[in-house]
Amino acid sequence: MRYLPNSCLVFFFLFFSLFHNLSCASTEKELGWCQAQFQCGNITAGFPFSGGIRPQLCGHPLLELHCFKNTTSIIISNNFYNVHNIDQTSNTLRITKAELQSSFCNGTFTTATLPPEIFELLPAYKNLNVFYLCDSKLPYRSSYTCPGRGPVSVSQNLDYQNSCQGSFTMNVPKSYVPEEKELNLTQLENTLKEGFEVKVKIDEKACQECSSSHGICGFENTKQVCCNEASSSVCNTFHPSNGKFLNYQTSSLTSYTEIENLYSP
Ligand SMILES: *[C@@H]1O[C@H](CO)[C@@H](O)[C@H](O)[C@H]1NC(C)=O
Ligand SMILES: *[C@@H]1O[C@H](CO)[C@@H](O)[C@H](O)[C@H]1NC(C)=O
Ligand SMILES: *[C@@H]1O[C@H](CO)[C@@H](O)[C@H](O)[C@H]1NC(C)=O
Ligand SMILES: *[C@@H]1O[C@H](CO)[C@@H](O)[C@H](O)[C@H]1NC(C)=O
Repeated sequence: MRYLPNSCLVFFFLFFSLFHNLSCASTEKELGWCQAQFQCGNITAGFPFSGGIRPQLCGHPLLELHCFKNTTSIIISNNFYNVHNIDQTSNTLRITKAELQSSFCNGTFTTATLPPEIFELLPAYKNLNVFYLCDSKLPYRSSYTCPGRGPVSVSQNLDYQNSCQGSFTMNVPKSYVPEEKELNLTQLENTLKEGFEVKVKIDEKACQECSSSHGICGFENTKQVCCNEASSSVCNTFHPSNGKFLNYQTSSLTSYTEIENLYSP
């Protein structure tokens, strides 16, 4: 790669300038679509979400919605969640980890971490530990024997850390308390079906400010931006420290310089 011939560099330059121009043109078209709403079943969502007819740059990269058979879903940390409800005024979502929605015992038993920079679990919910690969000779509180998996125990603390080889956490309402002796699987599955609520941590004021000055709210990767309706290649980055949008313009040189640096000795 280091000794790439010059003709190759030229090719890269042409390719990337062409690519950049193409992406600029489509950016202008796409930004217009940011005023459209994501629609699926009875769920409607605008900023800070993308998906459906809302292009990716209209929403945060971690907030891309999908629609399949009138059911809305979102992928968080490689886990598939069904979205039951989106409250656009409070920016909260009620979601269920899809694999836990049908059969608890058939799940993959992995912890689904909510990226803290964008999601916040509402105070009505908590983390619950699930222990598995447990020594079947020992007794466990709130346990259930999953077919082919052996005893599984649900606990609010880490008391079975040493007697079980596997564990993961899941989100349940604070009102859910595992029973003392045997786990009521039906009750747990019903609880998981209801899902849990998360708040999306987004600077709403910045977007309101942007909209009121006839701008279009969008994202440059994870950076919140406000784009000019008339000339959408000009976007302002929201600067959290002073609460103001800073002017910036995407430069076609950036992509070439980056490529050049990659191949320079
Ligand atoms: C949306 O539809 C589903 C069933 O299709 C229903 O369970 C849910 O309550 C509805 N949500 C709202 C907010 O109407
Ligand atoms: C989705 O909902 C619409 C309107 O309620 C309905 O006409 C359509 O048949 C539904 N599609 C599926 C795949 O359920
Ligand atoms: C769980 O998986 C087993 C075997 O893979 C299957 O027979 C069973 O029907 C599944 N249970 C549910 C509730 O999906
Ligand atoms: C388990 O929970 C379900 C639903 O909450 C309830 O109807 C059932 O009586 C419970 N079973 C036992 C054995 O407690």
